[in-house]
Amino acid sequence: MDERQTLVNRPFPHPLVVGNWKMNGSLQSVHGLLEALVKLDYPQLEIAILPPSLFTLTALMRLNGSQVSVGAQNIHPQPYGAHTGEVSAAMFSELGCRFALAGHSERRTDQNESNAEVAAKCAAILKANMTPILCVGETFDQYRNDQTEEVIESQLNALLANLTEKNLASLVVAYEPIWAIGTGKSATPDYADRVHKRIRLWLTRQLGEEVANTVCIIYGGSVNSANARDFMVQSDIGGLLVGGASLNVSEFCKILDSASTSLLRSQEERK
Ligand code: 13P
Repeated sequence: MDERQTLVNRPFPHPLVVGNWKMNGSLQSVHGLLEALVKLDYPQLEIAILPPSLFTLTALMRLNGSQVSVGAQNIHPQPYGAHTGEVSAAMFSELGCRFALAGHSERRTDQNESNAEVAAKCAAILKANMTPILCVGETFDQYRNDQTEEVIESQLNALLANLTEKNLASLVVAYEPIWAIGTGKSATPDYADRVHKRIRLWLTRQLGEEVANTVCIIYGGSVNSANARDFMVQSDIGGLLVGGASLNVSEFCKILDSASTSLLRSQEERK
């Protein structure tokens, strides 16, 4: 990839901040979180949460009319059928979900999800009129051996078998270095921004620069209130995918504050 072709414009009108609750929470704690989330008022941001699927309907009902969207952490690529224990994209969509994750590293590891399965899930999410949040990222060994670019490129290339250009343009891509997830050791903002630019370059090759610039690329991996701003001021980081810190309301609100004020500041700087 050509370093000189790096892009400098923030691609998405509103930064997207997504809270991935993973397999955490109880009915009681979820109710507590929702009571706080329903009051959020950040006109400069797009906010979504991904609760455990059992709490999806509770979240949708409580957050109805608020600015917080709800999404799925995982879907089955078939719309219905004999797949015991699974939930389809069509089902999440019918309830009112807007987003669904595909390819989170925890599923790639725990459930052996292949790049091809992840691509099929992205296609199913789009078919159900939701936005896929495609997660890509490298292991620590791959990072240490300078293989980040080729790993991510192969994760992205797998999409081409299932997705049209129009489909690709509708993705949100989340760069989540596996070594940064849940470790408290985030990537440096500069490193994350460089990887985002590589992802955008790949998108540019598929879609042309104008369309590629509209794709939202977000960073995830040990994001917290102390580092959120440093990520958000990078030129090609369009938002954040937050795990552990999204389960703590005051921490999550501080991250939203950082995302919203860093955007205002960069708008001021551009004037
Ligand atoms: P942490 O923010 O807990 O590192 O998790 C990141 C993540 O995996 C979000 O999908």
